[in-house]
Amino acid sequence: MKVLVAGGGGREHILVWKISQSPQVKEVYCAPGNGGISQKAHCLDIEATDLQGLVRICKDHMIDLTVVGPELPLTMGIVDLFQGEGLKIFGANRAAAQIEGSKAFAKDLMRQYGIPSAEYQVFDNRDEAAAYISKKGAPIVVKADGLAAGKGVTVAETVQDALEALDRIMVKKVFGEAGERVVIEERLVGEEASFIAFSDGERVLPMASSQDHKPIYDDDKGPNTGGMGAYSPAPVVTPQVHQRIMQEIMIPAIKALAAEGYPYRGVLYAGLMIQDGVPKVLEFNCRFGDPETQPVLVRMNGDLIPIVEACIGGSLAGLRISWDPRAAVCVVMASQGYPGAYEKGKIIRGLEEAESTEGVYVFHAGTSFKDGEFLSAGGRVLGVTGLGRGIREAIEITYEAVSQINWEGVHYRRDIGKKALSWLEE
Ligand code: AMP
Ligand code: GLY
Repeated sequence: MKVLVAGGGGREHILVWKISQSPQVKEVYCAPGNGGISQKAHCLDIEATDLQGLVRICKDHMIDLTVVGPELPLTMGIVDLFQGEGLKIFGANRAAAQIEGSKAFAKDLMRQYGIPSAEYQVFDNRDEAAAYISKKGAPIVVKADGLAAGKGVTVAETVQDALEALDRIMVKKVFGEAGERVVIEERLVGEEASFIAFSDGERVLPMASSQDHKPIYDDDKGPNTGGMGAYSPAPVVTPQVHQRIMQEIMIPAIKALAAEGYPYRGVLYAGLMIQDGVPKVLEFNCRFGDPETQPVLVRMNGDLIPIVEACIGGSLAGLRISWDPRAAVCVVMASQGYPGAYEKGKIIRGLEEAESTEGVYVFHAGTSFKDGEFLSAGGRVLGVTGLGRGIREAIEITYEAVSQINWEGVHYRRDIGKKALSWLEE
């Protein structure tokens, strides 16, 4: 079969890598892809948000299945469009993708169905939101309702910071329409984890747990990014916590969506805060995480395609995934200046050396390939991913590979995986 992956980041690189291992798959296409992906798949110069363009290439190249990486095409309704055209596609449809596309929708659904999450209120009026913030006091969390590329959330330590965040969203409108409504919520404390699962609309097949590292600097300092590294499994998700996440969050969410008339077929990602073994939802995403998918899918044994097809066909019952018992760590190597403005076009050196280590895979996020060389072409450039017998060994192997790669201005966190180590030492 021929498969198209829509998107062009590190998550899409590992999806292409995993899908191309399937014995059922003859050719993989990617739109738009990146430098690294172009070594494994036919990259087509179409953005993942050019939905009509994607329909056209699927017809032109007789693609049998499309797998969608990013949230935007999903919330724009790519799945509905493809299905209307008789094209097979994996992902949440437009109605179901609201679980990520509108934080107010997600919060109201959780409240209605008793899914544990922070206390909150939704406002479409700036003055009412400001009055609520002043009444509740700090710390408090201010969120733009719509998609804001991970930048629409402020965890405010003071009322003044919260009011400033509110004004950025509702007065200066820095996120445009995404800020027409805001969610103001209670700050949760604990340790974060990502829990990502497949669903066929009824059943939930969980993937291995993982943990992201959102802030740009070590020890979670500095502004949030798309994610500076991740590891899997996350020790904070003990077997008991896993059970609670499934029973109290994932299964109820899938049931709630079905009951509301939005059966969820695709990947559901819960961003969680876990305190004393009690998980609460920070957010839902309608897709695979990035960079979490890198350490999660390198640990997945077997073929991804039958699972994807079972989600589409409503036949997940009885399917199981076996996981490599090794731990995986992914360190994101970024351009100088990211998550602010950064330069592109720097020559990346040492990739071959890094990849020659057993158990190391370098997934490309923002790269291009020109005249036999890889160049930086984005904020997050590479996701260097390594497997080790335990988290400690995975960290060592991954950072050894990272140290072999270089370009002018490269920046990465040196503490990816540290939180997992603290569990080992307890
Ligand atoms: P979100 O996009 O909603 O996951 O928020 C981005 C980040 O903000 C999360 O990964 C958390 O670190 C933080 N965050 C969001 N909501 C809360 C909350 N209610 N309490 C504490 N931190 C939060
Ligand atoms: N790594 C966070 C996300 O994918 O949303």
